[in-house]
Amino acid sequence: MAQVNLQNVNKIYRSGRTEVHAVQDLNLEINNGEFVALLGPSGCGKTSTLRMIVGLEEISSGDINFNGKRVNELEPQHRNVAMAFETYALYPNFTIEENLAFPLEVRGVPEDERRRKARDIAEILKLTSILDQRPGALSGGQQQRVSLGRALIRDPSVFILDEVMSHIDAHLKFQMLFDLKAIHRDLGKTMVYVTHDQVEALALADRVAVMSNAKLQQVGTRNELYNAPANVFVADFIGEPPTNFFQAEVSDNGGGLALKTKDGALVFHLTEHRAGKIRALGGRDFIVGIRPQNLRLKDSEGKSSAHTGSDVHDITASILINEYLGERSILTFANGDTKFRALVPPETRAAPGEAVTLGYRPEDVMVFDAQTEALID
Ligand SMILES: Nc1ncnc2c1ncn2[C@@H]1O[C@H](COP(=O)(O)OP(=O)(O)OP(=O)(O)O)[C@@H](O)[C@H]1O
Ligand SMILES: [Mg+2]
Repeated sequence: MAQVNLQNVNKIYRSGRTEVHAVQDLNLEINNGEFVALLGPSGCGKTSTLRMIVGLEEISSGDINFNGKRVNELEPQHRNVAMAFETYALYPNFTIEENLAFPLEVRGVPEDERRRKARDIAEILKLTSILDQRPGALSGGQQQRVSLGRALIRDPSVFILDEVMSHIDAHLKFQMLFDLKAIHRDLGKTMVYVTHDQVEALALADRVAVMSNAKLQQVGTRNELYNAPANVFVADFIGEPPTNFFQAEVSDNGGGLALKTKDGALVFHLTEHRAGKIRALGGRDFIVGIRPQNLRLKDSEGKSSAHTGSDVHDITASILINEYLGERSILTFANGDTKFRALVPPETRAAPGEAVTLGYRPEDVMVFDAQTEALID
């Protein structure tokens, strides 16, 4: 068991005169037994971070501590961290049992103990019935489980998984997400799961650390990331379809402070609390964000179907596209130069060109500083 703490960690790759600052001033605390996902687009520094935790990559500056003890100079084999990758790298001529037991054989563990541990791990990973087979006879998902088992059999204090599901089809992925969650529950290990897929990260992790451009953007639970994204990047990256953004400016015409889109097409009313903050900041530019789920179609009596409470405001917009996606539909609107989307019930019959009224609640309007892109909460 281990608590992992990263303090001002930097990774700079140097070759000749070129420098890549792959991880910048990363501060992250992973609690004992916690399941944390590292989420971010390709090249943002996820693997570099993991490799420094494992000990495969030198730390350019900063400290990594396990249970309060600095491990910067500790060799990988003394850190007791196991890492599983996307590629399974199983030995084709070994049986599944031999593959599972191999890390113990390398360590000189006696055969009967190796067998017992391989069988225990196989039980957890539901591989018992195929222990005598060879990797070639297994499905991709089974091979991935063997690969996880081989990492787990060493009984690591920290278990790290780097993009282990990238090449697994959607159906099997769902099962594996479920299995991984159960493994974490059963073993209670500190786990770090790296992915660029928000669905995986949000489904698995206790907390998600969102990275972009070598920097940590926010660490939080699903709800924190969804309801109070620290900045425009997180608001855009978390949630599907992505948040709608509008360049906006303050409009204060007696009826209280609101934000008006730059093209003048839409006006967003704010909560008292947020209006106060914006008033205090002075007449600067802002970015308004609203999730497609929070723009609800109004019916012919003017009631917004799913919104409750009285403080619902309207915007009117004309439909550009109506995409039917089975269990839901996405309407894309164009108002002047501004395009945005709303998630609506699948039976919605509205056609392109039609103007409809959408309801939103001021508490669902997110506001960001146009310069720093930070949330004004
Ligand atoms: N050994 C290396 N030498 C030079 N640059 C590197 C090296 N390894 C990674 N980089 C660079 O560091 C940055 C971060 O890479 P990293 O592999 O950590 O990203 P990642 O988030 O894991 O991306 P992906 O999702 O594509 O796996 C990238 O710009 C990458 O090109
Ligand atoms: Mg990577």
